[in-house]
Amino acid sequence: MEAKQNIDMEQLQYLLNGNEADYLKERAVAVRQRYYDADVYIRGLIEFTNYCRNNCYYCGIRRDNANIDRYRLSDGDIMACCDEGYRLGFRTFVLQGGEDGFYIDSMICRLIRSIKERYPDCAVTLSIGERSKESYQAYFEAGADRYLLRHETANDAHYRQLHPSELSLKHRKECLKNLKEIGYQVGAGFMVGSPGQTTQNLYEDLQFLRELKPHMVGIGPFIPQHDTPFGRELAGTVDMTVTLLSIIRLLLPRVLLPATTALGTIDPFGREKGLMAGANVVMPNLSPGRVRKQYALYDKKICTGEEAAECIECLKNRVNKIGYRVVCDRGDYKGDLNV
Ligand code: 5AD
Ligand code: FES
Repeated sequence: MEAKQNIDMEQLQYLLNGNEADYLKERAVAVRQRYYDADVYIRGLIEFTNYCRNNCYYCGIRRDNANIDRYRLSDGDIMACCDEGYRLGFRTFVLQGGEDGFYIDSMICRLIRSIKERYPDCAVTLSIGERSKESYQAYFEAGADRYLLRHETANDAHYRQLHPSELSLKHRKECLKNLKEIGYQVGAGFMVGSPGQTTQNLYEDLQFLRELKPHMVGIGPFIPQHDTPFGRELAGTVDMTVTLLSIIRLLLPRVLLPATTALGTIDPFGREKGLMAGANVVMPNLSPGRVRKQYALYDKKICTGEEAAECIECLKNRVNKIGYRVVCDRGDYKGDLNV
């Protein structure tokens, strides 16, 4: 029955115009509540390298941005982030970075093994971009549980508007297929309001998600970063992002759906609005304070001044205020992994 949920172009346009906003949210929250109760899962994000071989037009850590200081965290730095995270109640660590060839497979595997050895009760999520199926397999065997790779847009022409020609949607989709085949819990997703995005594109994104059936979907507003080719473009809106969160909750009822940092950046209550529209995950930053500002995918990113402990306290308060609770749990996908 679940997979039958669908939306057509007209309905999508109607909802994106702001119609029936309260009703949509209500339904999304009811579905979220059915599977995940009032629980909000937290993921400790460790941004371990801001080197990137790619040149995506929207992203602040793109190769051609000469105006940022590049950094790489050592294994010791990363383990220290995990120690602090574990102490604060995190049971998922997300290793996120640019596509940095410095970290060859053996280094990534060593890192995964170290974390899983010290914290066998924790999930390790990777978010390190496009790699070969063999590499993905090796990370999985080393103990990685989940992989985040946003598809960015499911439309070929739009993909080419957002990326230089050496990147292709076809390869991106292949990576997602490989990750699913290997057995990861997989996350796809896209930016809302990215330059050139049309309602038709969003419709295709939703259809793509219905087909892929990812376990996680990351969406957040596009936010211009001043040193990128899209530095003068308009940002996506809170309303549109929140509407899409609700729709995605209804299309994929059990999906793990974060209220993203980007959403919290364009609106001081963005993450709360996301949670109140069907999202059930937040991903606070565990990266060391000294490098946070350097992982600048977009401008004005929140929580770059706070320590991890302050952030989680603040977040717990915010979550409690809207009637939800942060749980100290791996927060796995609740459902059959193979559908
Ligand atoms: N605004 C919003 N999100 C961005 N991302 C990259 N650059 C931006 C930006 N300028 C998102 C991409 C990527 C994820 C890690 O961050 O969707 O997959
Ligand atoms: Fe980071 Fe509030 S969540 S300071």
